[in-house]
Amino acid sequence: MCGVIGYCGHRPAVPLVLEGLKRLEYRGYDSAGLAFLQVNKLEVIRSAGKLCNLEEKVAKTANTFAPVSIGHTRWATHGLPVEKNSHPHKSNNNALAIVHNGIIENFQELKDELLKKGYVFYSDTDTEVLANLIADELDCLLQAKFSKNYAELQTEIEHTPQLSAQYLPYVEEAFCNAIKKAYGAYAVVLLSPLIPRHILAARLSAPLLLGIGIEEHFIASDVPAFLPYTRDVVFLDDNEFVTMSAGSYEVKNIYSGEKIAKTVHHIPWDLQGAAKDGYKHFMLKEIMEQPRVLQECLVGRVQDDLVCLPELDTLPVPDSIRIIACGTSYNAGLWSQYYLEQFAEIPVTVEIASEFRYRKPILNKNELIVVISQSGETADTLGALRLCREKGYPVLGICNVLGSSVAREASASVYTQAGPEISVASTKAMLSQMVVLLLLALYYGQRKKLACPVKEILHELRALPDILERALPAMRERAKELALQYAFAKSFFYLGRGTGYSLALEGALKLKELSYIHAEGYATGEIKHGPIALIEPDFPTFALAFDDDNFSKVRSGILEIKSRQGRVISVLQEGTSLENDDIWYIPKTNLPEFLALPAMQLFSYEMADYLGKDVDQPRNLAKSVTVE
Ligand code: F6R
Repeated sequence: MCGVIGYCGHRPAVPLVLEGLKRLEYRGYDSAGLAFLQVNKLEVIRSAGKLCNLEEKVAKTANTFAPVSIGHTRWATHGLPVEKNSHPHKSNNNALAIVHNGIIENFQELKDELLKKGYVFYSDTDTEVLANLIADELDCLLQAKFSKNYAELQTEIEHTPQLSAQYLPYVEEAFCNAIKKAYGAYAVVLLSPLIPRHILAARLSAPLLLGIGIEEHFIASDVPAFLPYTRDVVFLDDNEFVTMSAGSYEVKNIYSGEKIAKTVHHIPWDLQGAAKDGYKHFMLKEIMEQPRVLQECLVGRVQDDLVCLPELDTLPVPDSIRIIACGTSYNAGLWSQYYLEQFAEIPVTVEIASEFRYRKPILNKNELIVVISQSGETADTLGALRLCREKGYPVLGICNVLGSSVAREASASVYTQAGPEISVASTKAMLSQMVVLLLLALYYGQRKKLACPVKEILHELRALPDILERALPAMRERAKELALQYAFAKSFFYLGRGTGYSLALEGALKLKELSYIHAEGYATGEIKHGPIALIEPDFPTFALAFDDDNFSKVRSGILEIKSRQGRVISVLQEGTSLENDDIWYIPKTNLPEFLALPAMQLFSYEMADYLGKDVDQPRNLAKSVTVE
């Protein structure tokens, strides 16, 4: 959801920023733009639609060799996705330009104040309000110190850039003053001709990280933006701002102005991890790398047939667990309920974060809160985490992105170790969350000394990477065949029972977000309580029928649909059978969900690709939902 990037260094900044924006495309966007200084004057280039439109415009602009630039991919929140609303936004007096990810909740009040002072707004955005608010604060400070405002100082500034050092403290102060007045969740990056060698950036509840290179610094929403140049990263925390130039950076608290010593983290990913690797789409690559993900999820977590989660050893064994998440991560949480209750004998509630945080939830005594988030930045999940922490409950964060807000704010966190997930639709992240949650169930079973089959399940888990690796090519072919056969459908049911139920929800989510075909996931037993009324020949069903205690019941459900002329794709494990037209066999294991999930992902992928949809960046979606 919106990507920001800024660069100060020795390379031409504009092409570098453009390239960085391309690596942030996966976050989802509908317009883009960048700003740089041309003979100490602000140049802003913006364009609606894809980055190629922006590239075309930049190519027509002379002399884009500036060493400092900021850029943005916008996912519309205030105003339509048109050029005038794209970032960067300049202040009326051209003293600065900013890019911004997030929302300023009190923008209307701030705008009203500025309108009274004579400011003019050319866009519908909250960002333009913030740009003018900073400029207004700056003018007050300049007036007090130099008896001139920015407009009066402009010629002097243009001809004597060497004076910029004297203006830096005033720009910093104006930036912080304005930010203190703006409520919401955001990351902001600023460029100004007053300080041509510097960039300022601040964070409040939206991801922002600093890349540390040699004689160059980067600021961005996510690591891939600058991954070709450095893997050394500083994660900014809420209420911090950074002043950076090519040769230095300094992080301070927005409120106290105190300097903050930050730790530099080394990111273990490489560029290849964030590249398509010869696949047509990131999504396909991420589906196909799941055997490796299964393997890597186990690294460091299993020893001598025992589960090791040292992150949890200092927390007591809970009497109950409440899992909170959104979207696909919620589906992973729902899936784990079966195993946590079965293996750890702990009652589990699973909650949608946006619902949980606005109820007056009554938490149990000695309850463990588990929040699941691939990005670790989802606003509702973070909100729920904070609410539970404020109430004094321990929170376990399960997330993928190193150093993310969830990881840092939880009482303990377990990383899923899936590597960067670039495609907007989550695939391998869910699989890795399922592994971690299964390990969690075994871990508590172990700690409670229950007769839970730790050894047997670990044996199954260790065998899965090979089984999946061998199965994937045929699964992809079958997914292609079925996608072609069912591309006529306008609606789909997804059905599952037991551990298949949450997967049915996930299958339906993947199909609708990628191919825009309406799909609903149901518990198989629920279908006859109403939904079956919709069944007719062109309303197909995708059913999961695992070889477990539920098999005969799921089979009856499928036959009921068939006897109403509904067409059914049934995912079955080898060794079972069913009277059905379209059977999709997956190999036999005791953990069939780890094969059924990739099968459903491939079906949605092939369907979307066949229908010509934008697989990696489905319309209206963002990778990391940092606003409520
Ligand atoms: C669906 C999808 C979303 C995310 C959801 C939560 O493919 O990707 O439903 O799962 O936005 O995101 P995280 O896990 O980053 O909190």
